[in-house]
Amino acid sequence: MPEMRVLSEFIGQPNQCAIETYEKNGGYRALRTALTSLKPEVVIDMVQRSELRGRGGAGFLTGMKWAFIPKEAKERYLVCNCDESEPGTFKDRYLIENDPHQLIEGIILASYAIGAHYAFIYCRGEFYEGLVKLRKAVQEAKQKGYIGSRILGSEFSLEVIVHPGAGAYIAGEETAQLNSLEGYRATPRLKPPFPAAVGLYGKPTIINNVETLCNVVHIVNRGVEWFVSIGRAKNTGTKIYQVSGQVQKPGCFEFPLATPLREVLDAAGGCLHGRRFKACYPGGSSSVILTDRDLDIAMDFDTLVARGSALGTASIIVMDDTADMVQVAHRLMEFYQNESCGKCTPCREGTRWTVQILARILHGGGVTEDLKVITGVCKSMEATSFCPLAVGASFPIVSAIEEFRGDFEAHIRRNPHANEPLKMKVNYPYVK
Ligand SMILES: Cc1cc2nc3c(=O)[nH]c(=O)nc-3n(C[C@H](O)[C@H](O)[C@H](O)COP(=O)(O)O)c2cc1C
Ligand code: SF4
Repeated sequence: MPEMRVLSEFIGQPNQCAIETYEKNGGYRALRTALTSLKPEVVIDMVQRSELRGRGGAGFLTGMKWAFIPKEAKERYLVCNCDESEPGTFKDRYLIENDPHQLIEGIILASYAIGAHYAFIYCRGEFYEGLVKLRKAVQEAKQKGYIGSRILGSEFSLEVIVHPGAGAYIAGEETAQLNSLEGYRATPRLKPPFPAAVGLYGKPTIINNVETLCNVVHIVNRGVEWFVSIGRAKNTGTKIYQVSGQVQKPGCFEFPLATPLREVLDAAGGCLHGRRFKACYPGGSSSVILTDRDLDIAMDFDTLVARGSALGTASIIVMDDTADMVQVAHRLMEFYQNESCGKCTPCREGTRWTVQILARILHGGGVTEDLKVITGVCKSMEATSFCPLAVGASFPIVSAIEEFRGDFEAHIRRNPHANEPLKMKVNYPYVK
Protein backbone atom coordinates (compact mmCIF):
# COMPACT_ATOMS: atom_id res chain seq x y z
CA MET A 1 0.00 0.00 0.00
CA PRO A 2 1.38 3.49 -0.83
CA GLU A 3 1.89 6.03 1.93
CA MET A 4 -1.06 8.27 2.81
CA ARG A 5 0.46 11.69 3.32
CA VAL A 6 -1.77 14.05 5.26
CA LEU A 7 0.44 15.65 7.89
CA SER A 8 3.46 15.21 5.64
CA GLU A 9 1.70 16.17 2.39
CA PHE A 10 3.76 19.28 1.75
CA ILE A 11 6.97 18.14 3.41
CA GLY A 12 9.80 18.23 0.93
CA GLN A 13 8.27 21.03 -1.16
CA PRO A 14 10.37 24.18 -1.51
CA ASN A 15 9.95 26.81 1.20
CA GLN A 16 7.15 25.05 3.12
CA CYS A 17 8.41 26.65 6.34
CA ALA A 18 7.57 30.15 5.06
CA ILE A 19 4.12 31.38 6.02
CA GLU A 20 3.30 32.45 2.44
CA THR A 21 3.91 28.91 1.15
CA TYR A 22 1.95 27.39 4.01
CA GLU A 23 -0.98 29.72 3.26
CA LYS A 24 -0.75 29.03 -0.47
CA ASN A 25 -1.10 25.30 0.34
CA GLY A 26 -4.29 25.90 2.32
CA GLY A 27 -2.68 26.84 5.62
CA TYR A 28 -4.59 28.80 8.29
CA ARG A 29 -7.87 28.00 6.51
CA ALA A 30 -8.96 25.76 9.41
CA LEU A 31 -8.27 28.61 11.83
CA ARG A 32 -10.38 31.04 9.79
CA THR A 33 -13.21 28.50 9.64
CA ALA A 34 -13.08 27.90 13.39
CA LEU A 35 -12.92 31.57 14.36
CA THR A 36 -15.67 32.63 12.01
CA SER A 37 -18.14 29.76 12.19
CA LEU A 38 -17.33 27.20 14.93
CA LYS A 39 -17.84 27.77 18.63
CA PRO A 40 -15.06 26.38 20.87
CA GLU A 41 -17.36 23.59 22.13
CA VAL A 42 -18.06 22.60 18.52
CA VAL A 43 -14.32 22.16 17.88
CA ILE A 44 -14.06 20.00 21.04
CA ASP A 45 -17.06 17.98 19.87
CA MET A 46 -15.45 17.44 16.44
CA VAL A 47 -12.22 16.24 18.02
CA GLN A 48 -14.20 13.93 20.32
CA ARG A 49 -16.16 12.43 17.43
CA SER A 50 -12.99 12.01 15.37
CA GLU A 51 -11.70 9.64 18.09
CA LEU A 52 -8.27 11.21 17.68
CA ARG A 53 -5.90 9.57 20.15
CA GLY A 54 -2.80 11.26 21.50
CA ARG A 55 0.33 10.61 19.46
CA GLY A 56 2.73 11.22 22.38
CA GLY A 57 2.72 7.61 23.53
CA ALA A 58 -0.25 6.80 25.72
CA GLY A 59 -2.94 7.03 23.02
CA PHE A 60 -5.43 8.85 25.27
CA LEU A 61 -8.52 10.30 23.53
CA THR A 62 -7.72 13.95 22.81
CA GLY A 63 -11.29 15.27 22.78
CA MET A 64 -12.05 13.54 26.07
CA LYS A 65 -8.97 15.14 27.66
CA TRP A 66 -10.00 18.59 26.40
CA ALA A 67 -13.47 18.12 27.87
CA PHE A 68 -11.96 17.54 31.36
CA ILE A 69 -11.08 21.25 31.69
CA PRO A 70 -13.40 22.57 34.44
CA LYS A 71 -15.99 24.90 32.87
CA GLU A 72 -15.65 27.50 35.63
CA ALA A 73 -11.84 27.82 35.31
CA LYS A 74 -10.86 31.40 34.44
CA GLU A 75 -7.27 30.70 33.41
CA ARG A 76 -6.24 27.67 31.37
CA TYR A 77 -3.08 26.80 29.49
CA LEU A 78 -2.09 24.71 26.52
CA VAL A 79 1.30 23.00 26.47
CA CYS A 80 2.63 21.41 23.32
CA ASN A 81 4.97 18.57 24.21
CA CYS A 82 7.91 18.64 21.81
CA ASP A 83 10.48 17.10 24.14
CA GLU A 84 10.80 14.00 21.95
CA SER A 85 13.55 12.04 23.69
CA GLU A 86 12.26 8.47 23.35
CA PRO A 87 14.95 6.42 21.55
CA GLY A 88 14.00 5.85 17.93
CA THR A 89 11.49 8.72 17.86
CA PHE A 90 11.94 11.60 15.41
CA LYS A 91 8.51 12.45 13.97
CA ASP A 92 7.99 15.67 15.96
CA ARG A 93 11.38 16.93 14.87
CA TYR A 94 10.40 16.05 11.26
CA LEU A 95 7.17 18.05 11.64
CA ILE A 96 8.65 21.16 13.24
CA GLU A 97 11.67 21.35 10.97
CA ASN A 98 9.70 20.85 7.77
CA ASP A 99 6.24 22.34 8.35
CA PRO A 100 6.23 24.43 11.56
CA HIS A 101 3.10 26.42 10.69
CA GLN A 102 0.99 23.26 10.65
CA LEU A 103 1.84 22.86 14.35
CA ILE A 104 1.28 26.56 15.09
CA GLU A 105 -2.16 26.37 13.47
CA GLY A 106 -2.98 23.23 15.49
CA ILE A 107 -1.88 25.00 18.68
CA ILE A 108 -4.06 28.06 17.98
CA LEU A 109 -7.06 25.82 17.21
CA ALA A 110 -6.59 23.76 20.37
CA SER A 111 -6.12 26.89 22.49
CA TYR A 112 -9.31 28.36 21.02
CA ALA A 113 -11.21 25.13 21.75
CA ILE A 114 -10.15 24.93 25.40
CA GLY A 115 -10.17 28.70 26.02
CA ALA A 116 -6.44 29.14 26.66
CA HIS A 117 -4.85 32.56 26.12
CA TYR A 118 -1.30 31.33 26.62
CA ALA A 119 0.23 28.34 24.86
CA PHE A 120 3.71 26.98 25.46
CA ILE A 121 5.79 24.85 23.13
CA TYR A 122 8.19 22.86 25.31
CA CYS A 123 10.84 21.94 22.77
CA ARG A 124 13.81 19.68 23.32
CA GLY A 125 16.86 21.94 23.68
CA GLU A 126 18.96 19.90 21.25
CA PHE A 127 16.47 20.68 18.44
CA TYR A 128 18.33 23.84 17.52
CA GLU A 129 17.04 23.99 13.94
CA GLY A 130 13.50 23.21 15.06
CA LEU A 131 13.62 25.90 17.73
CA VAL A 132 14.81 28.52 15.23
CA LYS A 133 12.06 27.54 12.78
CA LEU A 134 9.36 27.51 15.46
CA ARG A 135 10.35 30.96 16.72
CA LYS A 136 10.34 32.33 13.20
CA ALA A 137 6.95 30.74 12.51
CA VAL A 138 5.47 32.27 15.69
CA GLN A 139 6.84 35.66 14.64
CA GLU A 140 5.37 35.35 11.14
CA ALA A 141 2.01 34.20 12.50
CA LYS A 142 1.96 37.24 14.82
CA GLN A 143 2.68 39.61 11.94
CA LYS A 144 -0.18 38.09 9.95
CA GLY A 145 -2.58 38.42 12.88
CA TYR A 146 -2.97 34.67 13.58
CA ILE A 147 -1.39 35.11 17.04
CA GLY A 148 -1.88 38.09 19.33
CA SER A 149 -4.88 40.05 20.46
CA ARG A 150 -8.28 39.65 18.77
CA ILE A 151 -7.09 37.13 16.21
CA LEU A 152 -8.55 37.76 12.73
CA GLY A 153 -10.92 40.31 14.27
CA SER A 154 -12.49 37.77 16.64
CA GLU A 155 -12.82 37.98 20.44
CA PHE A 156 -10.07 35.38 20.83
CA SER A 157 -6.50 36.35 21.86
CA LEU A 158 -3.46 34.14 22.28
CA GLU A 159 0.26 34.35 23.02
CA VAL A 160 2.53 31.45 22.02
CA ILE A 161 5.80 30.99 23.92
CA VAL A 162 8.56 28.72 22.62
CA HIS A 163 10.47 27.25 25.57
CA PRO A 164 13.63 25.16 25.07
CA GLY A 165 14.19 22.25 27.43
CA ALA A 166 17.59 21.29 28.81
CA GLY A 167 17.85 17.76 27.47
CA ALA A 168 16.18 15.39 29.94
CA TYR A 169 14.06 12.46 28.75
CA ILE A 170 11.90 12.70 31.87
CA ALA A 171 10.95 16.28 30.93
CA GLY A 172 8.73 14.65 28.27
CA GLU A 173 6.53 13.17 30.99
CA GLU A 174 3.74 15.68 31.21
CA THR A 175 3.88 16.59 34.91
CA ALA A 176 7.69 16.72 34.94
CA GLN A 177 7.38 19.05 31.97
CA LEU A 178 5.10 21.35 33.94
CA ASN A 179 7.67 21.50 36.76
CA SER A 180 10.38 22.28 34.24
CA LEU A 181 8.29 25.03 32.61
CA GLU A 182 7.77 26.57 36.05
CA GLY A 183 11.54 26.66 36.53
CA TYR A 184 11.86 23.62 38.81
CA ARG A 185 13.75 20.39 38.30
CA ALA A 186 11.91 18.05 35.92
CA THR A 187 10.56 15.39 38.27
CA PRO A 188 7.06 13.92 37.87
CA ARG A 189 4.16 15.05 40.04
CA LEU A 190 1.70 12.75 41.77
CA LYS A 191 -1.47 12.06 39.72
CA PRO A 192 -4.32 12.73 40.45
CA PRO A 193 -4.84 15.62 40.27
CA PHE A 194 -4.33 15.42 36.51
CA PRO A 195 -3.02 18.48 34.66
CA ALA A 196 -6.44 19.12 33.08
CA ALA A 197 -7.61 20.00 36.61
CA VAL A 198 -4.39 21.26 38.26
CA GLY A 199 -1.56 21.90 35.82
CA LEU A 200 0.79 24.75 34.98
CA TYR A 201 0.95 27.27 37.87
CA GLY A 202 -1.85 25.24 39.46
CA LYS A 203 -4.29 26.05 36.62
CA PRO A 204 -6.11 23.62 34.31
CA THR A 205 -3.71 22.68 31.51
CA ILE A 206 -3.93 20.52 28.42
CA ILE A 207 -0.71 18.89 27.30
CA ASN A 208 -0.62 17.46 23.81
CA ASN A 209 1.98 16.03 21.53
CA VAL A 210 3.11 17.82 18.33
CA GLU A 211 1.60 15.21 15.99
CA THR A 212 -1.69 15.21 17.92
CA LEU A 213 -2.06 18.97 17.49
CA CYS A 214 -1.16 18.83 13.79
CA ASN A 215 -4.04 16.39 13.27
CA VAL A 216 -6.55 18.92 14.62
CA VAL A 217 -5.94 21.18 11.59
CA HIS A 218 -7.03 18.41 9.23
CA ILE A 219 -10.05 17.37 11.31
CA VAL A 220 -11.36 20.95 11.15
CA ASN A 221 -10.51 21.30 7.45
CA ARG A 222 -11.78 18.00 6.10
CA GLY A 223 -14.34 16.95 8.69
CA VAL A 224 -14.93 14.16 11.16
CA GLU A 225 -16.32 11.64 8.64
CA TRP A 226 -13.19 11.89 6.53
CA PHE A 227 -10.97 11.38 9.57
CA VAL A 228 -12.81 8.34 10.93
CA SER A 229 -12.74 6.73 7.48
CA ILE A 230 -8.93 6.38 7.83
CA GLY A 231 -7.51 3.54 9.90
CA ARG A 232 -9.96 1.42 11.84
CA ALA A 233 -12.49 1.82 14.65
CA LYS A 234 -11.04 3.65 17.67
CA ASN A 235 -7.70 3.84 15.84
CA THR A 236 -8.49 6.60 13.39
CA GLY A 237 -6.39 8.84 11.19
CA THR A 238 -2.92 8.45 9.83
CA LYS A 239 0.26 7.84 11.80
CA ILE A 240 3.79 8.93 11.12
CA TYR A 241 5.74 5.72 11.66
CA GLN A 242 9.47 6.16 12.14
CA VAL A 243 11.75 3.33 11.14
CA SER A 244 15.35 3.18 12.35
CA GLY A 245 18.05 0.63 13.07
CA GLN A 246 19.22 -2.02 10.64
CA VAL A 247 17.10 -1.02 7.63
CA GLN A 248 18.03 0.23 4.18
CA LYS A 249 16.16 3.54 4.31
CA PRO A 250 15.50 4.82 7.82
CA GLY A 251 12.97 7.66 8.02
CA CYS A 252 9.39 8.81 8.58
CA PHE A 253 6.55 7.11 6.70
CA GLU A 254 2.91 8.20 7.01
CA PHE A 255 0.29 5.45 6.70
CA PRO A 256 -3.25 4.92 7.99
CA LEU A 257 -3.25 3.57 11.54
CA ALA A 258 -3.43 -0.25 11.59
CA THR A 259 -1.14 -0.67 8.57
CA PRO A 260 0.67 -4.03 8.93
CA LEU A 261 4.21 -3.88 10.29
CA ARG A 262 5.51 -5.63 7.17
CA GLU A 263 4.26 -2.82 4.90
CA VAL A 264 5.88 -0.13 7.01
CA LEU A 265 9.17 -2.04 6.99
CA ASP A 266 8.91 -2.45 3.22
CA ALA A 267 8.63 1.33 2.89
CA ALA A 268 11.96 1.51 4.73
CA GLY A 269 13.48 -0.89 2.20
CA GLY A 270 13.65 -3.92 4.51
CA CYS A 271 16.67 -5.05 6.46
CA LEU A 272 20.19 -3.86 5.64
CA HIS A 273 22.00 -5.88 2.93
CA GLY A 274 18.95 -8.15 2.54
CA ARG A 275 19.53 -9.77 5.91
CA ARG A 276 16.82 -11.52 7.90
CA PHE A 277 14.58 -9.57 10.26
CA LYS A 278 15.14 -10.66 13.85
CA ALA A 279 13.12 -8.31 16.04
CA CYS A 280 11.89 -4.77 16.53
CA TYR A 281 10.67 -2.46 19.22
CA PRO A 282 7.41 -1.13 17.72
CA GLY A 283 6.73 1.92 19.91
CA GLY A 284 10.09 3.39 20.75
CA SER A 285 12.47 1.58 23.04
CA SER A 286 9.97 1.54 25.94
CA SER A 287 7.87 -1.22 24.39
CA VAL A 288 7.75 -5.01 24.47
CA ILE A 289 9.83 -6.52 21.67
CA LEU A 290 8.22 -8.06 18.56
CA THR A 291 9.70 -10.95 16.59
CA ASP A 292 9.35 -12.33 13.05
CA ARG A 293 6.09 -13.99 14.19
CA ASP A 294 4.60 -10.49 14.42
CA LEU A 295 5.40 -9.17 10.94
CA ASP A 296 1.74 -9.08 9.92
CA ILE A 297 0.51 -7.34 13.06
CA ALA A 298 -1.64 -4.23 12.56
CA MET A 299 0.30 -1.25 13.84
CA ASP A 300 -2.38 0.41 15.93
CA PHE A 301 -3.00 1.18 19.59
CA ASP A 302 -5.38 -1.65 20.47
CA THR A 303 -3.80 -4.46 18.44
CA LEU A 304 -0.40 -3.88 19.97
CA VAL A 305 -1.82 -3.73 23.49
CA ALA A 306 -3.61 -7.03 22.83
CA ARG A 307 -0.23 -8.46 21.79
CA GLY A 308 1.22 -7.28 25.14
CA SER A 309 3.22 -4.45 23.57
CA ALA A 310 2.35 -0.83 22.69
CA LEU A 311 2.19 1.50 19.70
CA GLY A 312 3.80 4.20 21.88
CA THR A 313 5.32 6.74 19.52
CA ALA A 314 5.18 4.28 16.57
CA SER A 315 8.96 4.36 16.38
CA ILE A 316 10.09 1.04 14.99
CA ILE A 317 13.65 0.11 15.93
CA VAL A 318 14.72 -2.80 13.74
CA MET A 319 17.32 -5.46 14.50
CA ASP A 320 18.46 -7.99 11.94
CA ASP A 321 19.87 -11.46 12.56
CA THR A 322 23.33 -10.08 13.37
CA ALA A 323 22.04 -8.22 16.43
CA ASP A 324 23.10 -9.42 19.86
CA MET A 325 20.20 -8.90 22.24
CA VAL A 326 22.50 -8.66 25.25
CA GLN A 327 24.23 -5.66 23.71
CA VAL A 328 20.86 -4.16 22.83
CA ALA A 329 19.51 -4.67 26.36
CA HIS A 330 22.68 -3.27 27.93
CA ARG A 331 22.71 -0.16 25.72
CA LEU A 332 19.04 0.54 26.36
CA MET A 333 19.33 0.11 30.11
CA GLU A 334 22.30 2.49 30.14
CA PHE A 335 19.98 5.06 28.59
CA TYR A 336 17.31 4.53 31.25
CA GLN A 337 19.89 4.63 34.03
CA ASN A 338 21.15 8.00 32.76
CA GLU A 339 17.65 9.36 32.34
CA SER A 340 16.13 8.12 35.61
CA CYS A 341 15.34 11.33 37.50
CA GLY A 342 16.34 9.64 40.77
CA LYS A 343 13.16 10.54 42.63
CA CYS A 344 12.27 6.97 43.57
CA THR A 345 14.53 4.14 44.69
CA PRO A 346 13.32 1.19 42.55
CA CYS A 347 14.00 3.05 39.31
CA ARG A 348 17.15 4.89 40.42
CA GLU A 349 18.79 1.72 41.80
CA GLY A 350 17.07 -0.89 39.62
CA THR A 351 18.26 0.61 36.35
CA ARG A 352 21.82 0.83 37.74
CA TRP A 353 21.84 -2.77 39.02
CA THR A 354 20.49 -4.05 35.72
CA VAL A 355 23.21 -2.23 33.76
CA GLN A 356 25.85 -3.75 36.02
CA ILE A 357 24.52 -7.31 35.64
CA LEU A 358 24.13 -6.97 31.87
CA ALA A 359 27.69 -5.62 31.61
CA ARG A 360 28.92 -8.64 33.59
CA ILE A 361 27.08 -11.01 31.23
CA LEU A 362 28.52 -9.19 28.20
CA HIS A 363 32.03 -9.49 29.57
CA GLY A 364 31.80 -13.23 30.16
CA GLY A 365 31.16 -13.17 33.93
CA GLY A 366 27.41 -13.88 33.88
CA VAL A 367 25.79 -16.68 35.89
CA THR A 368 22.60 -18.61 35.16
CA GLU A 369 20.76 -16.98 38.05
CA ASP A 370 21.40 -13.50 36.54
CA LEU A 371 18.45 -13.73 34.16
CA LYS A 372 16.12 -14.36 37.06
CA VAL A 373 17.67 -11.52 39.04
CA ILE A 374 17.30 -9.05 36.13
CA THR A 375 13.69 -10.10 35.62
CA GLY A 376 13.04 -9.74 39.35
CA VAL A 377 14.57 -6.27 39.52
CA CYS A 378 12.68 -5.14 36.41
CA LYS A 379 9.34 -6.49 37.65
CA SER A 380 9.89 -4.73 40.98
CA MET A 381 10.51 -1.47 39.09
CA GLU A 382 7.28 -1.99 37.15
CA ALA A 383 5.30 -2.63 40.32
CA THR A 384 6.71 -0.01 42.65
CA SER A 385 8.11 2.99 40.75
CA PHE A 386 6.55 6.43 40.73
CA CYS A 387 6.15 7.08 37.01
CA PRO A 388 6.02 5.16 33.71
CA LEU A 389 9.72 5.70 32.89
CA ALA A 390 10.62 2.64 34.96
CA VAL A 391 7.91 0.52 33.33
CA GLY A 392 9.30 1.59 29.97
CA ALA A 393 12.79 0.59 31.11
CA SER A 394 11.64 -2.87 32.16
CA PHE A 395 9.53 -3.87 29.11
CA PRO A 396 12.28 -3.98 26.46
CA ILE A 397 14.69 -5.89 28.71
CA VAL A 398 12.35 -8.50 30.17
CA SER A 399 10.77 -9.18 26.77
CA ALA A 400 14.20 -9.49 25.11
CA ILE A 401 15.15 -12.13 27.71
CA GLU A 402 11.84 -13.95 27.17
CA GLU A 403 12.09 -13.99 23.37
CA PHE A 404 15.85 -14.32 22.90
CA ARG A 405 17.02 -16.23 25.95
CA GLY A 406 19.52 -18.06 23.74
CA ASP A 407 21.51 -14.84 23.13
CA PHE A 408 21.87 -14.32 26.89
CA GLU A 409 22.67 -17.98 27.63
CA ALA A 410 25.36 -18.01 24.93
CA HIS A 411 27.22 -15.25 26.80
CA ILE A 412 26.65 -16.91 30.19
CA ARG A 413 28.06 -20.23 28.93
CA ARG A 414 31.41 -18.48 28.42
CA ASN A 415 31.78 -18.38 32.21
CA PRO A 416 33.07 -21.74 33.60
CA HIS A 417 31.50 -20.88 36.98
CA ALA A 418 28.10 -19.96 35.53
CA ASN A 419 26.13 -22.57 37.45
CA GLU A 420 27.53 -21.92 40.88
CA PRO A 421 24.82 -20.68 43.28
CA LEU A 422 24.75 -16.96 44.13
CA LYS A 423 26.49 -16.12 47.40
CA MET A 424 23.52 -14.04 48.58
CA LYS A 425 19.89 -15.11 48.91
CA VAL A 426 17.57 -13.25 46.50
CA ASN A 427 13.80 -12.95 46.77
CA TYR A 428 11.69 -12.46 43.64
CA PRO A 429 8.41 -11.03 44.94
CA TYR A 430 7.15 -9.87 41.53
CA VAL A 431 8.25 -12.83 39.39
CA LYS A 432 5.49 -15.34 38.72
C1 LIG B 1 9.32 9.16 30.44
C2 LIG B 1 8.28 9.75 29.55
C3 LIG B 1 8.66 10.55 28.48
C4 LIG B 1 7.69 11.11 27.65
N1 LIG B 1 8.11 11.87 26.60
C5 LIG B 1 7.18 12.45 25.79
C6 LIG B 1 7.57 13.30 24.72
O1 LIG B 1 8.76 13.55 24.51
N2 LIG B 1 6.60 13.83 23.94
C7 LIG B 1 5.26 13.58 24.17
O2 LIG B 1 4.42 14.10 23.46
N3 LIG B 1 4.87 12.78 25.17
C8 LIG B 1 5.78 12.22 25.99
N4 LIG B 1 5.37 11.45 27.04
C9 LIG B 1 3.91 11.30 27.26
C10 LIG B 1 3.36 12.53 28.01
O3 LIG B 1 3.45 12.27 29.40
C11 LIG B 1 1.89 12.79 27.68
O4 LIG B 1 1.15 11.60 27.82
C12 LIG B 1 1.69 13.33 26.26
O5 LIG B 1 2.47 14.46 26.02
C13 LIG B 1 0.23 13.69 26.07
O6 LIG B 1 0.00 14.12 24.77
P1 LIG B 1 -0.98 13.34 23.79
O7 LIG B 1 -2.24 13.06 24.56
O8 LIG B 1 -1.19 14.27 22.65
O9 LIG B 1 -0.29 12.07 23.41
C14 LIG B 1 6.32 10.87 27.88
C15 LIG B 1 5.94 10.06 28.96
C16 LIG B 1 6.91 9.50 29.78
C17 LIG B 1 6.47 8.64 30.91
S1 SF4 C 1 10.24 6.03 38.02
FE1 SF4 C 1 12.32 6.84 37.61
S2 SF4 C 1 11.96 8.64 36.36
FE2 SF4 C 1 9.99 8.13 37.32
S3 SF4 C 1 9.96 9.29 39.23
FE3 SF4 C 1 10.88 7.35 39.75
S4 SF4 C 1 13.10 7.72 39.53
FE4 SF4 C 1 12.05 9.37 38.45
